Amino acid sequence: MKLIEVQSYDEMSKVAAEIMIEQIKTKPNSVLGLATGGTPIGTYQNLIKDFTKNKTSYEKVMTVNLDEYIGLEKDNPQSYSYYMKEQLFNHINIPENQTYLPSAKSVEEEEAGRNYEKLIDSLGGIDLQILGIGENGHIGFNEPGTSFSSPTSIVKLAESTREANARYFTKMEEVPTHAISMGISTIMKSRKIILLVSGVKKAPILNQLFHTDVKEDLPASILKKHPDVTIIADQEALSILKESKGSVYS
Ligand code: GLP
Repeated sequence: MKLIEVQSYDEMSKVAAEIMIEQIKTKPNSVLGLATGGTPIGTYQNLIKDFTKNKTSYEKVMTVNLDEYIGLEKDNPQSYSYYMKEQLFNHINIPENQTYLPSAKSVEEEEAGRNYEKLIDSLGGIDLQILGIGENGHIGFNEPGTSFSSPTSIVKLAESTREANARYFTKMEEVPTHAISMGISTIMKSRKIILLVSGVKKAPILNQLFHTDVKEDLPASILKKHPDVTIIADQEALSILKESKGSVYS
């Protein structure tokens, strides 16, 4: 894993957007794997700024998102489908039918995961996957304990994840209990991965990530086995790692 140390959230967002823009320029029909949550919002803002100023075209780009809640309609402002339109798709020239998110109407819809796998395969696989990390080390919605060989599937959210995401809902009961998430094995097939880590809340898990072996209790640890992962982390996120004695970092 390559680590790019940046000063701030803003710098992380700029650097991530530059890598994505470079990818699109090199391969205009790139398949981008996209993430939601608070972390990538600044990256998307930089992509929008660049699109407005430099007209980088998304006409041929295809996007596949990591995950989606089960039980929220697409027009629900808390759904990731809505998030992606608000934060990115409505502001660039990507055709709507080239943007995909996994979706399942209910937890019984097991074929939804298989269909998403087939879709990603039919697009030729993911060229560049953007990831955030949960405070418990999850990637996508693959919670601790998920098999590293997991394909895209319906997952039960950890209570800690529901609590972390409750900030977007008016009350805890509204936070869905299940989601559909791109699998860990699917994420690992991406040709290139960027992991964005920002803020003091992520400092403990980033420290653990660098000090742990690859184990299913920490889903993001599998990234150590991927040949092309870049972590972009800001000073707050790096604060514990930089202090820790015998750090792999120092
Ligand atoms: C969310 C998403 C993940 C995201 C992570 C971190 O629940 N399912 O894809 O990377 O948790 O979110 P945030 O960026 O808001 O800290």
